[in-house]
Amino acid sequence: MNFAVLTGGGDSSGINDFLYFLAQRLEREGHSLIGFRRSWLGLVNNDAVALDRQGLAQHRFTSGTLLGTERKNPIKDGEMDLVLRSLEDRKVDVLIAMGGDDTLGVANHLAEMGFTVVGVAQTIDDDVYGTDRTLGYYTAIYNGVRAVNSMVASNVAHDRDMIVEIMGRDAGWLALGIALNTPACACMCPEGAMTLEEMIASMEEYRRINGKAALAIVSEGIQLEGVDRTGLQRDAFGNLAYAGVSHIVGDLYKKATGRNPRVQVMGYLLRGGAPVPQDVELAAFYANHAIDLALAGKTGCMAALQNGQPAAVPLSEVMGRKKLVDLADLREKLKLLS
Ligand code: F6P
Repeated sequence: MNFAVLTGGGDSSGINDFLYFLAQRLEREGHSLIGFRRSWLGLVNNDAVALDRQGLAQHRFTSGTLLGTERKNPIKDGEMDLVLRSLEDRKVDVLIAMGGDDTLGVANHLAEMGFTVVGVAQTIDDDVYGTDRTLGYYTAIYNGVRAVNSMVASNVAHDRDMIVEIMGRDAGWLALGIALNTPACACMCPEGAMTLEEMIASMEEYRRINGKAALAIVSEGIQLEGVDRTGLQRDAFGNLAYAGVSHIVGDLYKKATGRNPRVQVMGYLLRGGAPVPQDVELAAFYANHAIDLALAGKTGCMAALQNGQPAAVPLSEVMGRKKLVDLADLREKLKLLS
């Protein structure tokens, strides 16, 4: 069979290993593999490259995606006919679409048009509905924890409170995971559970009890009372460009306490670096599982992980939903902070 793969959305570490594992097995079993460049844009422009195990082996344990990515929405741009034409021209039997809910949404549309598609969830946000873990999340947590723990001593030395902004869009998984593995005394997530006033109170209390600078983690997608963020720029899928909220939080913190906090935006640092072992293993799992589903003739589904077991989730069920942190669970976890 002729397989094709694309990688869409924000990249994360582990994608190149996923491509390697796909090529490794497909080659062994006598199938071919091409990769469309820059996500759906490559399908619109019929821009693809042959992928082979040996070539991909040179790029194992690296971050980014060798295929490139793009927030391209061919549905919105009315270009699904071009997508289909490229797949026909390249004689592709199965498309494996890897990315977050936006990428998987287009994959669902393509499946509904009759093409064989299997989706795989990849995003540092870990917010894709229907699977326990998205590829790249573990490495992002590791990167964030290392970075924050490396900065804390400096803040303590300068006696300067620190507010660290973590990506994650509307889900607080990354922010919470990083907060739990650093000396953070507060964490604001988009799901709620902690207000700005509560965050400030926690930081004041931490300073009083410990006699040193306090650390708070804020997720980029938090809501702040009286702050309208709906005017932010949107991407092709309508997502707001959230980055930068920590500067607003920093200003409000200064107004409330008189102290000027150090604001750090983690940004792309979370996505980079070699994938941690959990992500390499997840990449292998997803590659094998996606191939199994495709060879079994399944289409319009996502190769998922549920309670440690492979599962096939209809892409139509993944659409329009997000896996968010449960509010009650979040409240319990916040009690564990310093
Ligand atoms: O969806 C993954 C993600 O890293 C989000 O956490 C973040 O909001 C977004 O990508 C940033 O996207 P961009 O690279 O387009 O700024």
